[in-house]
Amino acid sequence: MFFEIKNIVVAYDSVTALNDVSIKMEEGQIIALIGANGAGKTTLLRAATSLVPVQKGSITFNDVDITDMKSELIVREGITMVPEGRQIYPYMSVKDNMLMGAYLRNDKAGIRDDLDRLYQLFPRVKERMKQQAGTLSGGEQQMVAICRALMARPKLLFMDEPSLGLAPIVIREIANVILEINKSDNLSIVLVEQNSRMALRISSYAYVLETGKMALEGDSKKLVKDPHIVKLYLGG
Ligand SMILES: Nc1ncnc2c1ncn2[C@@H]1O[C@H](COP(=O)(O)OP(=O)(O)OP(=O)(O)O)[C@@H](O)[C@H]1O
Ligand SMILES: [Mg+2]
Repeated sequence: MFFEIKNIVVAYDSVTALNDVSIKMEEGQIIALIGANGAGKTTLLRAATSLVPVQKGSITFNDVDITDMKSELIVREGITMVPEGRQIYPYMSVKDNMLMGAYLRNDKAGIRDDLDRLYQLFPRVKERMKQQAGTLSGGEQQMVAICRALMARPKLLFMDEPSLGLAPIVIREIANVILEINKSDNLSIVLVEQNSRMALRISSYAYVLETGKMALEGDSKKLVKDPHIVKLYLGG
């Protein structure tokens, strides 16, 4: 299996945030993880990148056990996160933000090639490469956060609510970008979203977290029609 989380338990002090949660995915897939505020979506991504400890269960990537691996080594294995709230460096230029994503690399030519390629893929980012990142619009900042993560040349990308706070037209643009990078690089993506409609539209398989437990999973096309999903997550 390309990426697999098996029966993990994560707690903050005495509060259990994830209880016996499992997911798996094949290479090249986009899978969605949906759920309400506080369901444990960010915690799952943080656990998978060792930003919070896992009490029970295991996480494997390309058959390597990464459960207790240091975060930096996990990046080297090929997993990168586009964090919730983007967390770009506001006082740095767009280009320097992107270069921060390549901090573990020392292949200068490859880094230059990747910058060029991303500028082609994101013309709006290229136009603004010298601009201070904090002065960009929310949608542009999200693009920069995605570019920064791609500069690490990941094999698996975690995206934590890329649509958060963006206008519908910008959300569509971000959704298209996600589909594009998935296709052009066969990049595998775990997409965490509260925008369930968008997430189910662009993913092939989806998981639904409810207060720390996996409530439901299935093909995204099927879940879109599932009465429970329609009622609770699609405003039906
Ligand atoms: N550092 C922390 N210390 C204590 N409790 C935490 C911490 N981080 C998260 N939690 C708790 O764990 C639970 C899951 O939080 P998490 O951030 O994973 O949810 P989420 O699904 O990402 O929500 P949202 O959609 O609002 O981002 C929540 O009850 C939250 O209060
Ligand atoms: Mg979250």
